[in-house]
Amino acid sequence: MNRTILVTGGLGFIGSAFIRYMLNIDQYVKIVNLDKITYAANPDNLKGVDFSRYKFAQGDIGDETIVSNLIHFNNCTHVVNFAAETHVDRSIMGECSFERTNVSGILNLLKVCRDKRNFIKRLLLVSTDEVYGSIVEGSFKETDILRPRNPYAASKAARELFALSFYETYGLDVVITRGTNTYGPFQYPEKVIPLFVTNALEGKNLPLYGTGLNIRDWLYVDDHCRAIQLVLSQGDAGQVYNIAGHHEITNLCLTNQLLKLLGLDESRVDHIEDRKGHDLRYSIDDSKLRELGYQPRTSWNDGIKNTVNWYNNNQEWWKKVKSDPAYLEYYKRQYRKV
Ligand code: TYD
Repeated sequence: MNRTILVTGGLGFIGSAFIRYMLNIDQYVKIVNLDKITYAANPDNLKGVDFSRYKFAQGDIGDETIVSNLIHFNNCTHVVNFAAETHVDRSIMGECSFERTNVSGILNLLKVCRDKRNFIKRLLLVSTDEVYGSIVEGSFKETDILRPRNPYAASKAARELFALSFYETYGLDVVITRGTNTYGPFQYPEKVIPLFVTNALEGKNLPLYGTGLNIRDWLYVDDHCRAIQLVLSQGDAGQVYNIAGHHEITNLCLTNQLLKLLGLDESRVDHIEDRKGHDLRYSIDDSKLRELGYQPRTSWNDGIKNTVNWYNNNQEWWKKVKSDPAYLEYYKRQYRKV
C-alpha cells in the first residue's frame, strides 16, 4: 500500500522510535515529521534515518496552514499524532502549554484532517492509560469510564473526546491507542527510568516519591510502536485500543532492579515528598488489541537490560540534554530538596 504518514511530534521518545520502526519494516512508506521542537524533542533521535523517505518540518500542530500544506503537498494518507506535553510533574507545576498543545492543538489537527478527508484515510491519536485514573484491583477495559486525576491526564482525555466526536459528527476515520508506561532508549530524562539510570551514572541519588509502593505497568518502546502500527492498519474506525506492558511492579521494586543492574546499593535512594494526587496503580486489559494479533516481543528482563546498557553507552546523548539550562532549571524546581 502506498502510504505517506504525517507524524506529529516525531522528534520525541515514542514518535522517533515509531519513525525508525516504520522506515525499517516498510520499504515503501514515506514519513513527514512535523515537530515544534519543544524541550523534549531531540533531532539527535533521528540521526541516520533514510532521508529519501523522510522529511522534516518544524511547526506546531495548532498551525492550520502548516498542517494543511504538509498534507496537501506531500499527499499524506495517514496522520499519527504523538505531539503532546507528556510529563505529569510539569502539569502539576501548572505549565499552561498542556491545554494549548494537548487540547487546542489537537482540535486544529482534527479540523484540518476533516477538511482534507480526500487525502487522509485515517488519523491515529496516541493517548495514555492515565485517562482512566488509578485502579486498586483488576484492569481497565476500553469501555470503562474515564477519571483522569491530574491536569496532564485530563488534557489527554479531553483530546480523545474531541477526536471521537469528529468520528461521530463528520465521519473522520479516527483510532485511539492508550499505551501504558513506556521505556527504552532515547527517553527524555525527566521520566523515572531514564532519570534514575542517568542520575546513577552521574553519581547522584535517585529521588523516589513517597512510599515507592505505587505500581506502574512497563511497556518496551518497540512493542508500543508495533501496536500503534497494527491499530493504524487493522484497527476499527472510531475505536480505542489499550496497549499493556504486562509487567506491573512497584516503583521501589523498579528502583532496586535498576540499582542492581548498575551494581549499586539502596543507599543511593532519596525518599522524597510524594507527588500531589499520585495515582496508586495503572493497569489495563489489552484483549481487544490481542484480537488483532498483537503479542509483545520484548521481555522486561531484556528490555530493561537493553535500556540501561543504552544509557551507559550513549552518555553523550543524555549529558547534552541534562546540561541544558532549561533542564537544570526544571530539575532544581522539581527536586529542590534533593
Ligand atoms: P513517570 O515516569 O513520571 O511516569 P507516570 O507519572 O506517567 O507514571 O513516573 C513513573 C512513576 O515513578 C510514578 O509513580 C512516579 C514515580 N517517580 C518517582 O518516584 N520519582 C521521580 O523522580 C519520577 C519522575 C517519578
